[in-house]
Amino acid sequence: MSKITAAITAVGGYVPEYRLTNKELEKMVDTNDEWIRTRTGITERRILKEPGKASSDLAIPAVQEILKKKNLDPLEIDCIVVGTVTPDMIFPATSNIIAHKIGAKNAWGFDVSAACSGFLFSLETGASFIESGKYKKVLVVGVDKMSAIVDYTDRATCIIFGDGAGAVLLEPSTDETGFLDSILRTDGSGEHYLHMKAGGSREPASIETVTEKKHFIYQEGKTVFKHAVEGMADVSAEIMERNHLSADDVAWLVPHQANMRIIDATAHRMGLSRDKVMINIQRYGNTTAATIPLCLWEWEKQLKKGDNIVLAAFGGGFTWGAIWVKWSYDS
Ligand SMILES: CC(C)(COP(=O)(O)OP(=O)(O)OC[C@H]1O[C@@H](n2cnc3c(N)ncnc32)[C@H](O)[C@@H]1OP(=O)(O)O)[C@@H](O)C(=O)NCCC(=O)NCCS
Repeated sequence: MSKITAAITAVGGYVPEYRLTNKELEKMVDTNDEWIRTRTGITERRILKEPGKASSDLAIPAVQEILKKKNLDPLEIDCIVVGTVTPDMIFPATSNIIAHKIGAKNAWGFDVSAACSGFLFSLETGASFIESGKYKKVLVVGVDKMSAIVDYTDRATCIIFGDGAGAVLLEPSTDETGFLDSILRTDGSGEHYLHMKAGGSREPASIETVTEKKHFIYQEGKTVFKHAVEGMADVSAEIMERNHLSADDVAWLVPHQANMRIIDATAHRMGLSRDKVMINIQRYGNTTAATIPLCLWEWEKQLKKGDNIVLAAFGGGFTWGAIWVKWSYDS
């Protein structure tokens, strides 16, 4: 019997309407459009402005797009894995809220905290469930409402992040397409360079933590940049080498969208020209766990069955990784 692989069989995405442009940021902090574009590649990002709305409200339209495309009854969904660092609340998991709101009454699920690698770590998990033979329909979501944890007086971080959600459906395949290999890594010594200082069990929320702005993203950009360039490029090159994939064999690189210069360094190391790299950072900025599925969503129509695709990310933690997928369908 052929080996069961986990095939991506549908993609959905969602970004909120409000566009926070570089020009608008110029009025909020001491920055300018030219600096932001040349240092990061970002021109605008989407922000979920409505009060009371959360990451689940971004994820649900992305998931509903999949249900509609596949004419899928939510009762058929076995499991929902959600990569996010901006859950609706610390508990219950955002996957619970999504399952409830879409009527996936037979599904269980959980959230995965791996920052910008959240989608890759969730995809690895979801794919293993399919490969085990136990589950037939697993939804993997990458979602973040980064505007909830960004300090809009800190020019070093507020220019980078945006809100968005992307999702994929995983189903078993025996035609040798689907999820083929992965290299995933963590290094906890990186915790200090990109994190949220308070609100967890180490430093619970208090008047002091709020006053000291410890519930916002803290980032040492240069250190993160250096590790991101090395980490993302290393695992992307390694996954090609160990699977004997040449640059010609790779149809697409789907990189996490953190900084245009990190994307270029990864593509360069893999020997890929820019026309093989999915790039939408200019329009959405860094949506953390949502960047990779949002790219798949926007490029879905250009993907062909059998295309070799390398997904690569680096994020807070540190966390990083690369996944090799052979695309499973023509749109
Ligand atoms: C954040 C980042 C864009 C900053 O770019 P950089 O080239 O490293 O810039 P630096 O932090 O060294 O700052 C250079 C100068 O620009 C200034 N600066 C920082 N933010 C600025 C802004 N928004 N506008 C204008 N100037 C800014 C700094 O104060 C510094 O000034 P100085 O030289 O007078 O001290 C970059 O470090 C980065 O992308 N890091 C990785 C981010 C990332 O990937 N995060 C998510 C992980 S997945």
